[in-house]
Amino acid sequence: PSACNLQGLWRNELGSNMTLSALDAAGTFLGSYHTAVAATNNQILLSPLQGSLQHSSTKGQPTFGFTVQWLFADSITAFVGQCFVDRRGKETLETTWLIREEVPSRRDSWRATRVGTSTFTRIK
Ligand code: BTN
Repeated sequence: PSACNLQGLWRNELGSNMTLSALDAAGTFLGSYHTAVAATNNQILLSPLQGSLQHSSTKGQPTFGFTVQWLFADSITAFVGQCFVDRRGKETLETTWLIREEVPSRRDSWRATRVGTSTFTRIK
């Protein structure tokens, strides 16, 4: 199987879509994220992301991370994950995310972060 490639259009189990651009020489990439769900009642907007691919992948199934700066909420999400490729060449991104929302005071900090896992498959 060939090495996993992050560039392209991906969808997760919630129906969220993201587009990842080509990597630059340093292994950093940009993209955009269209979430299917939100914790706010604001209208969902396509939001930018910035990430890095770990370059020292030896087995062709590299780790990566990216952050999404939501354009319609005061929160920010960080994803870390790994790109897996099966024997048929099908790629899957297995990720874990943290989302931090802005709370009014330190006393509320305990409830500001949520965590989850998400699986993305390539749609283009
Ligand atoms: C917000 O509601 O504060 C902004 C949108 C958050 C969307 C979250 S990020 C983790 C999870 N995976 C998705 O595709 N969407 C939600």
